[in-house]
Amino acid sequence: MTNTETTPVVKSENMSGAIGQAITYEKIPTTIFPDSKEASRAVAQEIADLIRAKQKENKGCVLGLATGSSPKTVYAELIRMHKSEGLSFRNVISFNLDEYYPMEPDSVQSYVRFMKEQLFDHVDIPKENYFVPDGTVPPALLKEFCQSYENRIARLGGLDFQLLGIGGNGHIGFNEPGSLVNSRTRLMMLDNSTRVAAASDFGTLVKVPKKAITMGIDSIMQAKRVVLLAWGERKAPVIRQAVEGAVTDSIPASYLQMHPNAQFMIDERAAADLTRMKTPWMVDNVVWDNLMVKKAVTSLSFQLHKPILKLTNKDYNDNSMSELLAQYGQAYDININVFNQLQHTISGWPGGKPNADDTNRPERAHPAKKRVIIFSPHPDDDIISMGGTFQRLVDQGHDVHVAYQTSGNIAVADDEALRFIDFVVDYNQKFGIESTKSTKIFEEASAYLKGKKNSDIDPPEVRYVKGLIRRGEAKATCRFVGTPIENAHFLDMPFYETGMIQKKGIGEADIKLIVDLIEKIKPHQIYAAGDFADPHGTHKVCWDAIAEAINRLKHKNSMKDCWVWLYRGAWAEWDSHEIEMAVPMSPDQVMKKRLGIFKHQSQKDGVVFQGEDAREFWQRAEERNRGTAQLYDQLGLSEYEAMEAFVRWRF
Ligand code: F6R
Repeated sequence: MTNTETTPVVKSENMSGAIGQAITYEKIPTTIFPDSKEASRAVAQEIADLIRAKQKENKGCVLGLATGSSPKTVYAELIRMHKSEGLSFRNVISFNLDEYYPMEPDSVQSYVRFMKEQLFDHVDIPKENYFVPDGTVPPALLKEFCQSYENRIARLGGLDFQLLGIGGNGHIGFNEPGSLVNSRTRLMMLDNSTRVAAASDFGTLVKVPKKAITMGIDSIMQAKRVVLLAWGERKAPVIRQAVEGAVTDSIPASYLQMHPNAQFMIDERAAADLTRMKTPWMVDNVVWDNLMVKKAVTSLSFQLHKPILKLTNKDYNDNSMSELLAQYGQAYDININVFNQLQHTISGWPGGKPNADDTNRPERAHPAKKRVIIFSPHPDDDIISMGGTFQRLVDQGHDVHVAYQTSGNIAVADDEALRFIDFVVDYNQKFGIESTKSTKIFEEASAYLKGKKNSDIDPPEVRYVKGLIRRGEAKATCRFVGTPIENAHFLDMPFYETGMIQKKGIGEADIKLIVDLIEKIKPHQIYAAGDFADPHGTHKVCWDAIAEAINRLKHKNSMKDCWVWLYRGAWAEWDSHEIEMAVPMSPDQVMKKRLGIFKHQSQKDGVVFQGEDAREFWQRAEERNRGTAQLYDQLGLSEYEAMEAFVRWRF
């Protein structure tokens, strides 16, 4: 369509305050925030200002609203402003972008219910002022319904503000790839990738509706102001395409390049693939600190498919890095510096090598025997994400504890639970064991599961059984790796225990569990899931609780000796320039880790929340670990079978 090439333009306003003019590859004004919380505050503030300005003029404020995980933090901030700053929504009239079709408004997955739970029920917006496309309209009346939805917006003078999220395939609203720039509110077939992404909300892919009613691209483009949100690295590739790529119907969000007042408000992770983040030296002057040099050299090596030690002066000059070259004098010196740094990240001694010079090792040699806590958000993250390192720590004689942060109970299938319940009930019958309080739990759970309907939320008895199953699997892994069972700590953090995908916010009780354990063990090393890909997901909440606990304890003497290592969960690996410890694995060690993951039988052969990735967890882990080893190999370092990677968090 229009704009087919990505050509940089000189940016009039200087970015980063450096001397000289910056250039930009971005075709939509984009503001990058350190995290989703800060971004959400800014967006909520803009909406609040607009509502108040309209109030002053005695006018209604017409908002276009979105659902999905991204706007939740914005809605939470608006609720806070309503409760503590007196922000009133009495003059707000809102129109939601979309709704599944068919869909009953009180279904758990309905966007009507979502909006009530996330915003409307907590503010003073009059009931008659909010509109969500109706998923119950009979097919014959749909066309008329869509037209009247648009007419209603038009009669109010159009949308003053449209809030958007973005799908991994570039959709806005449910305008899937292929949507035309002149499309209006209509019924759409959902893209397969959209249905797969929604599968976890519905329990399984087959239950995700195939259609949805959505406002069209033209309806969105008519809004006076459009703000699009994106959080987490999973959105990074599509953000780059929408912001820097061509305007194309295959990335519907790219149409916003043609909107006179659109803005992307995104977090750093979602911005990671933008040129100014990925290769900032191509945009502006940069400070060539150590991390920036590593980032530049590794990215040049990958780009040219050349090991680091083979990069030449010409390679640096031809790729906008002559400034870096000038600082060092010649490529050889930069290459050897970065090569050595990467070399020093590789260690088969994650707990430190006793009696060895540790100047160039990622961990301290002393004390030779360390107390270690591995925090595992779900009962299988320890073995999936760092099973090879876990094994080495145990084999090398450290006192390894594992803290299983949540019960992981919602990820156990009903059938799996029934299998275990049958075992207990049959066992009791065989040996004439009378109904006691504990056997009653199993009987009640069994009765409930046999009559369970799709929309039912498991009662505590069933969640207890499901949690026990996962606990047993985690214990089996500990036995397999060789750490004593009494070193397995099951925290069952309360924030997780809603029985639904939607969790509670982190609370004092969650933090206290972590504080108490750290105080009891007094670890020299903490391993934690530094997985921020899903800002509202369990891994992130689990990390927030650890970070807060450490923050409270950091002044204590025992914490002075404690180093924190972050691993990544099942989704993404650290960038190679970020890695500070890479623990290699031999083919045998990879196989042993696979068998350790197999202990989690409830998570094998088609799990409850498969998500977008059809691979089983052991396959994802192996491919990830092999991929990390290949990166080191491509950079010209030793070739290993697989590697687990860590970044140190300095508090
Ligand atoms: C929801 C909607 C969708 C979402 C998009 C991103 O009303 O229109 O376009 O905004 O699928 O969803 P999250 O925010 O969950 O990643």
